[in-house]
Amino acid sequence: MSGAIELPLVRSLPANGRDHATLLQELEALRVADAEWRDGRVFSLVYDPGHAHETFLREAHGRYFSENGLNPMAFKSLHRMETDVVRMVGALVNGDAETCGTFTSGGTESLLLAVKTARDRARRLHPWNRRPEIVLPESAHVAFDKAADAFGLRIRRARLDADKRVDVKHVKRLINRHTVLLVASAPQYPHGVIDPVEAIGKLALKHKIPFHVDGCVGGLILPFIERLGRPLPLWDFRVPGVTSISADLHKYGYTTKGASVLLHKSKDYLQDQIFIATDWPGGVYASPTLPGTKPGGPVAAAWAGIQALGIDGYVALAKQTLAAADALREGIRQIDGLRLLSPDNMPIVTWTSASDDVDTYAVADQLEARGWHLDRQQDPPSIHLTVMAGHERVVPEYLRDLKAAVQFVRENPGTKSQGNAAMYGMMAKVPFRSMVKSTVRGIMLEMYGPEGGKNQGDPAPPDGFVGKMLAEHGEKIGRALDTYQRLRARLKRGK
Ligand SMILES: Cc1ncc(COP(=O)(O)O)c(C=O)c1O
Repeated sequence: MSGAIELPLVRSLPANGRDHATLLQELEALRVADAEWRDGRVFSLVYDPGHAHETFLREAHGRYFSENGLNPMAFKSLHRMETDVVRMVGALVNGDAETCGTFTSGGTESLLLAVKTARDRARRLHPWNRRPEIVLPESAHVAFDKAADAFGLRIRRARLDADKRVDVKHVKRLINRHTVLLVASAPQYPHGVIDPVEAIGKLALKHKIPFHVDGCVGGLILPFIERLGRPLPLWDFRVPGVTSISADLHKYGYTTKGASVLLHKSKDYLQDQIFIATDWPGGVYASPTLPGTKPGGPVAAAWAGIQALGIDGYVALAKQTLAAADALREGIRQIDGLRLLSPDNMPIVTWTSASDDVDTYAVADQLEARGWHLDRQQDPPSIHLTVMAGHERVVPEYLRDLKAAVQFVRENPGTKSQGNAAMYGMMAKVPFRSMVKSTVRGIMLEMYGPEGGKNQGDPAPPDGFVGKMLAEHGEKIGRALDTYQRLRARLKRGK
């Protein structure tokens, strides 16, 4: 971030329309505090396709700016493009002539729909099951929790093994007569690990349970990594037992935001995704996805964008991405005090501290001060980098800054109980998760309350109980929580 937004909050609609030029200027002025992704210092929010492709995507998006996918009879073009995109992605992930699905607004919607589909399939086939459950890895994306929350299912999280893959024996133990869906990720977000899809597929077949593979991250890059000859486990429709796959176009598909697909093995599974209301005065209403009105732009941009790149374009992007990720891994391995949590051959790089005198969150603060946008994770504290092709050029700079940050933290041990490091450290370690929840709820309420935007989206330092404890007893609490974490890890290992 480079500055503060100077424009006053807008509190009501202006009585008279304002002129375009000023408003466009203001749109630019509002950017002043944004993460500057164009210089490659942001790692998961933007997938930069390069200037020429971006211009092409804008053109394609603009041509379907007003069209509405809500009614595929009215806009046959959008329906046609959607089914073409689904077929193209279906072929990439080794679907067959039966594979089908829908275009969605993103990974979260794809996962919400995968869960809703499993619930409704169970209602249809096993109406006695009043307590539907999903078994998924601890590392599976939180959109599954959101889905379970929204659709009334219970989540059972299976623990990870030492390599961060889900422990299949634990998955097996969690399956019971209420299980309506098994989940694996390819790869999961926190550590970029592909779960043992083949082993879970066997369980799915044995117990006749649908099996969703979350390929939101991997869907549009793993097929090309495989073409580059890198060794990968099987994760897609080639694995017997897999019944649905999500794949995000707005991630490694490098298309505009609001684009993902949810694919099903066959219409037999797709049928439970569809919502139909027959008695509404507004008419018979049928919809396969969550929104009503559906923007046409992302569909058109995806349809055109993925064809413009083609297999050779995506292979080239995957090659560049892996070159950047490999160089980051190599450089991080050379930094004393850090270790990698993520495996080779993946576009995700996650590092953590390997030494008591290197606090991960304190290093993160130092990197942030040097202009990098950070994704902080917990359990253990770690830093996540979703690497994409455009990052190749910033790798040397990142490694130089990371090395300097580690050295600074070693020389200044106090940094771990200051600033963001103290807050994130506490949030990650505190055993009373409901306390963390209420602190975060407070921050969100402030952000979206009547004065939303006043603090420009920056969370205010925690107040209430957490804030007071941090201010008065930060270091002592930190030490106690470290001991607690060590004990917990030991107990977990012994389980
Ligand atoms: C593995 C995985 N699944 C699902 C999602 C959710 O995708 P979206 O943010 O597009 O809703 C993400 C987002 O990072 C992800 O990493």
